[in-house]
Order: sequence, then structure tokens, then C-alpha cells
Amino acid sequence: MRQSSLVVVANRLPTDDSAAPDGACEWRRSPGGLASALHAILQQTPATWVGWAGGVGAAPTLTDIGSLRLRTMALSEQELRGYYEGFANSTLWPLYHDAVEQPVFHRGWWETYSEVNRRFAEAAAEVVEPGGVLWVQDYHLQLVPELLRRLRPDVLIGFFLHVPFPPPELFMQLPRRIELLRGMLGADLVGFQRPQAAHNFAQLAVKLLGARVTANDQITVDGRTVRTGAFPVSIDVAEMQALAARPDVRERAQQLRADLGRPRRVLLSVDRLDYTKGIEHRLTAYSELLHDGRVKVRDTVMVQVAVPSREQVENYRVLRDRIEGEVGRINGEYGRVGEPAIHYLNQPFDRAELAALYQTADVMVVTPLRDGMNLVAKEYVAARADASGALVLSEFTGCAAELEDAFLVNPHDVDGLKETLLRAMEADPADLARRMAAMRAHLSSHDIVTWARAYLTALDRTGRVAARLRR
Ligand code: ADP
Ligand code: F6P
Repeated sequence: MRQSSLVVVANRLPTDDSAAPDGACEWRRSPGGLASALHAILQQTPATWVGWAGGVGAAPTLTDIGSLRLRTMALSEQELRGYYEGFANSTLWPLYHDAVEQPVFHRGWWETYSEVNRRFAEAAAEVVEPGGVLWVQDYHLQLVPELLRRLRPDVLIGFFLHVPFPPPELFMQLPRRIELLRGMLGADLVGFQRPQAAHNFAQLAVKLLGARVTANDQITVDGRTVRTGAFPVSIDVAEMQALAARPDVRERAQQLRADLGRPRRVLLSVDRLDYTKGIEHRLTAYSELLHDGRVKVRDTVMVQVAVPSREQVENYRVLRDRIEGEVGRINGEYGRVGEPAIHYLNQPFDRAELAALYQTADVMVVTPLRDGMNLVAKEYVAARADASGALVLSEFTGCAAELEDAFLVNPHDVDGLKETLLRAMEADPADLARRMAAMRAHLSSHDIVTWARAYLTALDRTGRVAARLRR
């Protein structure tokens, strides 16, 4: 078994299988923030990524991506249901996102979640070099840090949560709250997107485990001290800038605008089709603007990209039906022949097409009800080389704290959302340029490499691991 000094453990690998149009298996880059972020930094770093490649049954053998080795994990049908669709995405996901949908507590799922976490821990323990670093990612694998500590006491263990960590009153609803907390506390450093999440975690450790916490959220429990902190994740700014500068991408952006009928304004949203993303609230606001006559289909077009996600989970299927019904209603009521009010695209796109879409958009509408970070907002900013364009951004995204020059909005307040959309559409170009320049300046010094270095340096204070990142 080949070993690496840096091993990342995440539910999803950076590539997953998806059916090609002819039904054959096709490998493509996984959509989703975690895969985008880690793929960007690891593709040139000698490391191993332990994760699942989508699908059920035997684990496929995947070729390395540059110097990154992929160690695939198999999931059985029953594990997919209990671990991924069940405990991870029907219990933890809604609970961690402010319970915007009702979390489901199903006792049988816990056993499967624990079992899959154990298998991931064993696989990771096999491939890490003596004295190496294991970096565990996200809510799917919360038990892995503690399991690894038992299997490999010689290595440094990091844990990073990409999604929000809820306030104690919500976390306390979890029937297996103590095990989940202890699982995370197996790490040497527990990282979050926002300081409030680290604070929630520390409060829970005190309340449930009698831990002691110092001013900077260091947690001492059972004689060990665990460090915590906020490390806001980011994007590969250079990659998005390079894509946006490519002549074929610029040409494609012009083509897209022409295909949209050369409207005065293009509004764009790009999300996984997820109930946390606030797609329905956004459609309501847009539909009311059309109804009130404050937006005209002739001169304004909305594009909603909603990439399919977690389609076997009931809430996601119901959401898709509701959204598609609503898009149909809005187009039926306000569209004209050859001029739909909303262009709805339920498909994955490659990075160049996304960059072209970002360049086409005069107003980028990012309005989740809750989001750990939201990388789409950052990608839009990185793609706007001429500093034009407006970003309408929910206050409930992690990135709202960083992109303060966006048009910030509470997506639950539909009237406020309508007014903010209009303000962004009508804004003075000089004001937009000032806002965009400020956001671009922030991103240029806070990209994905800054994130990875900050986290890994905090984990391994010698700086030895961070120095290995080849970027
Ligand atoms: P989440 O992690 O909840 O999916 P983020 O906004 O943080 O949300 O990350 C989404 C990532 O997925 C971004 O990098 C974005 O470019 C990518 N993505 C979103 N929609 C698509 C799509 N239709 N095709 C390909 N990639 C997509
Ligand atoms: O960023 C949050 C996240 O849940 C990641 O952990 C995940 O990879 C991504 O969204 C996409 O979700 P999924 O892996 O379920 O398709």
C-alpha cells in the first residue's frame, strides 16, 4: 500500500461518475463547494484523497490527478440510503442549515453512519505515512477524527466543516449529539467557516462534556486540548481569472448574450438544486417584479442554473417539482414566443461555460437561506475582470462577512429582496465598479491557497505541511 504524508478524507472525490447522454459512465468534476475548493489546491500536491466516487457497488480504480492519488471507497445500496441520503443529508444537513427543512431522525441510520465512518477511518489510516497529516472534511465524517486518533496516534489530525455549525439549541436536538461532538474532538484542530460556528462548538463542549474553554476557543477535555478557529474557504481565483480572460470564453459570453436576445440586463443564479439555496424565494420576488410591471421581459432576462443534487432524497425531489412548476407558471404567465421570462437549466456545466455565464450576468443573484460559505459568489467576482456587474448576496452566507460591498439582502424578506434586485439593476456604473473593485481586492489576497496554508499552518505549527502545497 503506497502511503502519503498528506491524506485528505472527504465523502466525495473531486471526480464522480455520471451517466453520459448515451448511458455510458462518464467521469467529470464533481459540482459542490468542497470538491471545487480542494481539487484546486491538491491537483499539484503529493497527497492522497480518500472518498466516494458516486454510485453503488465495487469501488472503481481512478487514475491520479497530477500528483494527487485517489483512493475510492465503495458504498452499498444500504449504506447510500442510511449514511449519505439518510443521516448526512436528511438529519445533519437540514439541522445544520437552521432547520429550514425539518430534520429527520431515524434510528437505523445512525448504525450505518457509524459503520461507514469506521471504514473511511480505516482506509485513511492505511494510506498515511508515519508522522503524516490526515485532514478530514465535513459533516459526513464527523466520527472519523476520534476513530483515527485510536488507529494512528502518531499522525496530526485536522477536521474542517464546510457547512454552518448550528447554535446549541438546534444541535441539542440530535439524539447522538455526544458521539458526534466527541468524534470531532478527536482532531487536533477543528476548523469552521465562521467564528460564530467555532464559538457554538466550544459552548456545546462545555455543556455536554464539561470541557474547559479558553478565551480563544481552545477546548480542554479528558486531558487533551483541541484547538478551534475560523478559516473561511475560498476559490482558485487565478483559475477563474484565467478562464474569464480566454478569448473563446469571452466569445462564448457574447454568444450567450445574443442567444438570450440581447436584453438590457441579464440576471443569473447558479446553485445546486437545494432547499437551502433560497431558489423559491428568489422566483417569488422575480415573479412579483414582473407582475408589478417593474421588470419587463423584453429588456430583462433571468437565467437559473440549478444542477441536480441528492435526487434520491425526498425533500430534493419535492423541491425540484415545485421549482419546475413555478418556472413553468412564470414563463406561461409572463413569457412571449421566443422570449421566456426565466431560462432554467438543470444541468452540470464545465468551468469554461460557468465562466462565460458569469461574464454574461449583469446581476448575480446569490440568495441562500443559509450557506456555510457559497463559492459561486466568489467565482462571479473573480470572473468580472472589468469590475462591472452587481452581486446581490444573502446575509446568511458565510461569504457575506467578506464581500461586504455586495448588495446584501435578507432573502426571507421578499419585499426587501425585490427592492434590492431593483437597486442592483439600476445602480450607477461608478458605484458598481467601486464595489466590485473592493470585492476583487479582498479575493486576491484570500484565495484557496491562502485558506489551505492558513489551516495547515495552524494544524502543524512547524509549517512543514503547508510548505508542501505546490501553489
Ligand atoms: P455548495 O457547496 O453548497 O454546492 P457552493 O456555492 O459553495 O455551494 O459551491 C458550488 C460549486 O459547484 C461551485 O464551485 C460551482 O461552480 C459549482 N457548480 C454549481 N453549479 C454547477 C453546474 N451547473 N455545473 C458545474 N458546477 C457547478
Ligand atoms: O459544501 C457542502 C457540500 O455538502 C459538500 O460537502 C459536498 O461535496 C457538496 O456540498 C455537494 O454535495 P454532494 O456531495 O451531496 O453532492
